[in-house]
Amino acid sequence: MTAPARTRNGYARGRLTVHDDPAKLTPVSRALRAAGRKVVLVPTMGALHEGHRELIRHARSVPGNVVPVVSIFVNPLQFGPNEDLERYPRPLERDLDACREEGVELVFTPSVDHMYPPGSDTRIVAGALGADLEGGPRPGHFDGMLTVVAKLFHIVGPDVALFGEKDYQQLTLVKKMVRDLDFPLSVVGVPTVREPDGLALSSRNVYLSADERPRAVTLSRALREGAAVSAHGPAAVLERARAVLDTEPALQVEYLELRDADTLGEPVDGGRARLLVAARIGATRLIDNVPVQL
Ligand code: PAF
Repeated sequence: MTAPARTRNGYARGRLTVHDDPAKLTPVSRALRAAGRKVVLVPTMGALHEGHRELIRHARSVPGNVVPVVSIFVNPLQFGPNEDLERYPRPLERDLDACREEGVELVFTPSVDHMYPPGSDTRIVAGALGADLEGGPRPGHFDGMLTVVAKLFHIVGPDVALFGEKDYQQLTLVKKMVRDLDFPLSVVGVPTVREPDGLALSSRNVYLSADERPRAVTLSRALREGAAVSAHGPAAVLERARAVLDTEPALQVEYLELRDADTLGEPVDGGRARLLVAARIGATRLIDNVPVQL
């Protein structure tokens, strides 16, 4: 699907061009870069919400003559057998409207066959960090995520790629892959967007029932209250956050961890850390995290 519109650079400005074929998208992106534009990629799985819009606004504010590019692809490789691949929301027309409203120039919406044609079974391996935290209950998730992100980086060839801090382990792993495998681009994390009551925005929030929604806010409250006592050290942070989580019986906490903000290894005294939580509420699994200065 392509809707070209010409300007002085030869490509749409203020109007959206949509490509589903990598072979068409790559030359467009390369030509834009050759013309001095800075290609800034926001990779998504669609179902765009205010958090994605914030990423796009952030993309547009990157210094330079920016081309904001959004990819929309529900990547089957990062879903486990019992996860929500089939029911994952795919409101493409609404997503394209959101992209138009936010001034996106290029959208890349490949099909599964475009991304993984028959026989395409080479994968990126996420390493030890890929099996930790989110990787524990979701084996292979980060291999699948990094594989598609590596492909998107090659296809789009961005100067900068933006990822939300909400998926902090994902952001850390993408930065690590870019370092380890020498991808020529910068990866930038953008702070989590929250509802007024503190709930982190997520495409999965739509699964929360009316009864679960107010209970889910306990997650962000626990993180905030834990971070607030950081002057008393790591144990106090974890103890305070755990005490808040324990007030909500509907939450099944999978992990609550304080980790080093750069490596997600053990936190360092006096260093930047991250307090991370994952919990189920009913059938919905939610994650959240906040910065903590130790
Ligand atoms: O965060 C997401 O939406 C996905 O994991 C990503 C980065 C688009 C890769 O499929």
